[in-house]
Amino acid sequence: MVKPKAKSVYRCQDCGFSSAKWLGRCPECGQWNSLVEEALKSVREEEGLFFTLTSTEATSLPAIESDYAQRLPTQISELDRVLGGGLVPGSMVLLGGDPGIGKSTLILQTLNQMASVGRTVLYATGEESKQQIRIRADRLGISSQIWILAENSLEKIVEQVQKIKPDVLVVDSIQTVYLENLESAPGSVSQVRECAGKLLFLAKSTGLVTIVIGHVTKEGGIAGPKLLEHLVDCVLYFEGDVHQHYRVLRTIKNRYGSTQEIGVFEMNEKGLEVVQNPSSLFLSGKNTSAPGSAITATLEGGRSFLVEIQALVSFSSLTNPRRTTQGVDPNRVAILIAVLEKVVGLNLYNQDVYVNAAGGFRVVEPAADLAILAALVSSVKNKILGKNLVFLGEIALSGEIRSVQGLDLRLLEAKKVGFTHFVLPKHLKNSPSLPGTEVLFVERVADLLDKLF
Ligand code: TYD
Ligand code: MG
Repeated sequence: MVKPKAKSVYRCQDCGFSSAKWLGRCPECGQWNSLVEEALKSVREEEGLFFTLTSTEATSLPAIESDYAQRLPTQISELDRVLGGGLVPGSMVLLGGDPGIGKSTLILQTLNQMASVGRTVLYATGEESKQQIRIRADRLGISSQIWILAENSLEKIVEQVQKIKPDVLVVDSIQTVYLENLESAPGSVSQVRECAGKLLFLAKSTGLVTIVIGHVTKEGGIAGPKLLEHLVDCVLYFEGDVHQHYRVLRTIKNRYGSTQEIGVFEMNEKGLEVVQNPSSLFLSGKNTSAPGSAITATLEGGRSFLVEIQALVSFSSLTNPRRTTQGVDPNRVAILIAVLEKVVGLNLYNQDVYVNAAGGFRVVEPAADLAILAALVSSVKNKILGKNLVFLGEIALSGEIRSVQGLDLRLLEAKKVGFTHFVLPKHLKNSPSLPGTEVLFVERVADLLDKLF
């Protein structure tokens, strides 16, 4: 008898697209040579490690116990803020970030705090040896009862979970663990997906809190966090400049809380420390302003932060001049350059343009538009903007300056740090939060240029 051929599929290692035959280029994401043959066998077909979910009966809403509200605080204030009050039993959290940013450090410190209040915690690492973890723990001054497992096999990790019965399990990282009976390599799309699926099932069926760590690479080369975002309950990204001290923990998704809050940490020789008062952290520190520097007050969740935007515009000898940004959306900068060219006739087509947010911060809201634009013009004209000046306003394609939300909070924070002068959209003229400030109202980009330069 002819044995049926083992089923396999060719899967794109970049985006997860699958095809029955090999293709040189992925039709989904356009990547070349990214399709790899994988055995088509789902772990769901196997037996053994799966637990049955507690109930398959439908229940009326009021009759459902809200156990999940029994959060486990991590005892690290900025992390609890981002999680919405603590870790929820039975939930799965994905912690993503660049290699070396401090994910393992944050997690070890968190587990230490939780273990010290009597939680059972298991840290499974496929990246480092037990000795390496010990060295890091010594450096951080950590000596509490954390169970450490150096293991790549997910089956063996699950075995230890069943033995130790922890409240919290950490898998560091999802790219280094694998299921033995899945033929593809650790880190491949199908391994990452199936391993995460298995961990999710474990979490949901036992109430275990699972935190998985995932590396993001600049090229998105390895199957990583993006693939898992829809699967998990909460997605956190740890960001910042590896060469600087400050780190920002941002929520991308949270089924149990807000996605507005951010957590701020400082990395020093004794590990990560929460920053209690981060409002003036992202200013360059020196009070001497230079051309190309403008300050804005950005709003993240319930808090406002003052951020310095730095721009450098210089003559370019390239056919396609550079447009380089750090911590600022490059598309936003492109739009603002276009507005300057079209609306006020300030041409930058033969200029290289660099825009940064100071301190490794990432500005995400359009309320920073006015500051970016002011920084650009300040650099072009080589003219210093007034000290003590904060810019707030979104810029429309027509060059009109639009209103921003949460003005009181922003003004309050700016005044606390010592800023007294503001440039604001004209729409906010009647805002009640203005007393005690010196304000220049602007309606259009041309207005701003007339009044400031
Ligand atoms: P790590 O947590 O290993 O990063 P990840 O898990 O995201 O790859 O942190 C790595 C960096 O953090 C490393 O370059 C050194 C630095 N670090 C400190 O500055 N202080 C410390 O106390 C520790 C433990 C690490
Ligand atoms: Mg690590």
